[in-house]
Amino acid sequence: MLKSTTREGACIVSCCTIILAVSCMPYFHRDVTESRIGKTWISEYYNSKLYENITAVIHGDSPHRTYSGPFWEEEGAWQLQFLVSQGLLQHHMLLDMACGSLSGGVRYVDYLDDAHYFGIDLNMEIMSAGYEEELIPRGLAEKLPRSHLYANDAFDAVHWGYKKFDFAVSHSLWTHIPLDEIRSFLKGVGPAMKTGGRLYATFNLCPEAADCSLPIVQFTYPVQEAYRHSGIAPFGKKNISQISTSSADPYHYRPSELLAVVTSLGLEGRYIDNELVSACPWKQKVLEVTF
Ligand SMILES: C[S@@+](CC[C@H](N)C(=O)[O-])C[C@H]1O[C@@H](n2cnc3c(N)ncnc32)[C@H](O)[C@@H]1O
Repeated sequence: MLKSTTREGACIVSCCTIILAVSCMPYFHRDVTESRIGKTWISEYYNSKLYENITAVIHGDSPHRTYSGPFWEEEGAWQLQFLVSQGLLQHHMLLDMACGSLSGGVRYVDYLDDAHYFGIDLNMEIMSAGYEEELIPRGLAEKLPRSHLYANDAFDAVHWGYKKFDFAVSHSLWTHIPLDEIRSFLKGVGPAMKTGGRLYATFNLCPEAADCSLPIVQFTYPVQEAYRHSGIAPFGKKNISQISTSSADPYHYRPSELLAVVTSLGLEGRYIDNELVSACPWKQKVLEVTF
C-alpha cells in the first residue's frame, strides 16, 4: 500500500513536472539564477528551481545541454558548418559570445588550431559543464586552455586583448536580448576584432513587411523531439512552438533594424538567408557584421 502510494505520488510529481516543462518549452533557454554574475538579467524565465527541474526532465543526465534546447548536437554541427561556409579556417582566432555549454565550442575546438577558440558566457557553471562533460570526454582538453572560457555579462570581449579575433560567432543570444543590448554587444566585441574581422550572429526573424508588434511562431516541432534524450514519453500536447515577440524574450527583429544599429556604429552589416541558414535547427537567420 505504502509502495503503491509512493509510486502514485512519484507519478503525479513527474506528470506535473512534464506538464510544467511542456508549457514552458518556448522559454526553456534559461539561466540558473545562482550562476549569474551581477546583472539583472533578461527576464523572469531566467529563474530558478523550475528551470533546473525542466533541464533534468528534458535532457536526462545532460541538463547543461538544455541551454541550447533539444538540438544541442545539431546546433553545434550547424554552427561549424555555417562558419566554415563563410571562410573560417583552422588558423583563425575565434570568439564565441554566449558560448553556453559549448555546443558549438566542442566542434570549433576540434576544428581550429590549438588554443584558437575563446568563449564568453555569463554562466561559468554552464561553460564548466561543457568543458568537463563534453570537451574532456572527446579528448579535446589539450586544445582549450581553461583560461579561454570567461564568465562575463558585459560583453567584455577585449579580455584577451585588442584586435585579436578573425571571426566571432554568437548563436542564439540576440534572440534573448533587446536592441539596446545588441548595441552594447557590438560595442564590446568591436575592439576585440581584427580590422576586417567578421561576426556571425543568429536572430529570430520578423519579416520586413510583417507587423512585428504581433507574436510570431518561429517554428513548431513535435513534443517527442524535446524529450528524446530523457526517454520520457510526453502526453497531452503534441507540438511545441517557438514564439517570439518584439518586446520580450525570445525577441524577433527585422533585418533592417539590426542593420540600422550596425551602420550607426560605423560598421558594415549583411543579412544572410540562404539554404544553409534555412537548415539552422532553431530556424534562426544570420547577420554578418564586418569590423
Ligand atoms: C540559448 S543559449 C545559447 C548558447 C550557445 N551559444 C549555443 O548555441 O548552444 C544563450 C546563452 O546566452 C548566455 N547569455 C545571456 N546573456 C548573456 C550576456 N549578457 N553575456 C554573456 N552570455 C549571456 C546564457 O548564459 C546562455 O548560455
